[in-house]
Amino acid sequence: MEKGKVVLAYSGGLDTSICIPLLRERYGFEEVTTVFVDVGQPAEDIRAAEKKGQKLADQHITIDARERFVSDFVFPSVKANASYEGYPVGTALARPVIAEEVVQVADRIGAEAIAHGCTGRGNDQLRFDFVIRSSGFRVIAPVREMNLTREWEIEYAREKNIPVAAVRGSPYSIDENCWNRSIEGGKLEDPAYHPPEEIYRWTASPDDAPGEADIVTIAFERGIPTEIDGSRMRGIDLVTEMNVRAGRSGVGRNDMIEDRILGLKAREVYEHPAATALITAHRDLEQLVLSRQELAFKRMVDDRWSELAYMGLVYEPLFWALSAFVDKTQERVTGSVDLRMHKGSVRPVGRSSPESLYAPDLVSFDSTCIDQATAEGFSRYFGLQAQILRQKKKTGR
Ligand code: ARG
Repeated sequence: MEKGKVVLAYSGGLDTSICIPLLRERYGFEEVTTVFVDVGQPAEDIRAAEKKGQKLADQHITIDARERFVSDFVFPSVKANASYEGYPVGTALARPVIAEEVVQVADRIGAEAIAHGCTGRGNDQLRFDFVIRSSGFRVIAPVREMNLTREWEIEYAREKNIPVAAVRGSPYSIDENCWNRSIEGGKLEDPAYHPPEEIYRWTASPDDAPGEADIVTIAFERGIPTEIDGSRMRGIDLVTEMNVRAGRSGVGRNDMIEDRILGLKAREVYEHPAATALITAHRDLEQLVLSRQELAFKRMVDDRWSELAYMGLVYEPLFWALSAFVDKTQERVTGSVDLRMHKGSVRPVGRSSPESLYAPDLVSFDSTCIDQATAEGFSRYFGLQAQILRQKKKTGR
């Protein structure tokens, strides 16, 4: 049997709550510290976790990591236009922050091990384990190790006087941070089942969204969003504001089949209004200021960056090398983009930048700056090898 202290990454949900008595009874730890890391979960979840943690554990700690989450993970993901299989990664970005904060507590109090409540089916176990092990701590994952089922957990919770009513109330598994809200499980496990409107919290139904379009201006400095409609805000406030603003227009919903890291396909429903709006604006600004070569190469880098972020491999040297490339390109991504948001859609309608590569004098139909006759020389040799082949073979199509 173990002795000593263990730190538990705590959410207040059923899985992590039953871990508290299990860590004492089954694993033999003497002291359980629960840590709730705030990355933008609903205020009532934070309060509920605090109450439960204080009651069930020896010590409960709440850490506000919202601004760090935004500056260290969310905004870098905007620079990389990060999306996995078509949706802006969110949960994946938050896990390393949560794990790192928990590691810091474990270091401070001299814990023997770090525990989490992940199951053995999802991605989160891999993301948590990776950070915890990289930091030199042993991982304890009771739900995975004991192969627990939900029914067993509910029964055990009752036995241990852990409130399960709230857990029973929602038939879904919901994960939330300031960048993304994900809903899975319950009836949604049938991929053919249409998500009911009541699962959404951040976005208006596009059908019920205002009939009038909302035009919003986003300013960027070196790839980082800094202003909404001319008012400067710190990261977390900008993201929060953008969630409200874009969510009102029904922007940022996603219902998809996702390939988890283990290979399982899962049905996921997401809400991410700010992410959709900010990445749409960012991409558009890049299109104005980056060269064609940079854009083409960066699309590949963005893809690989996103995949590593999805896997939670934040200490992978390739991740840092790709991040360095992205940062280099972002030196010129300064300017602003006007977005038009309307009944679930968002599209750029105007953009400007001091770093713009747009050359109005050259491209305009009215301009005389380009001597059109000189373009003929360029055109003559354009696609030369194909021209030669086609003349020889008289086929090829
Ligand atoms: N599939 C998403 C991911 O791996 C979300 C997982 C967490 N969602 C949840 N409802 N528990 O990033």
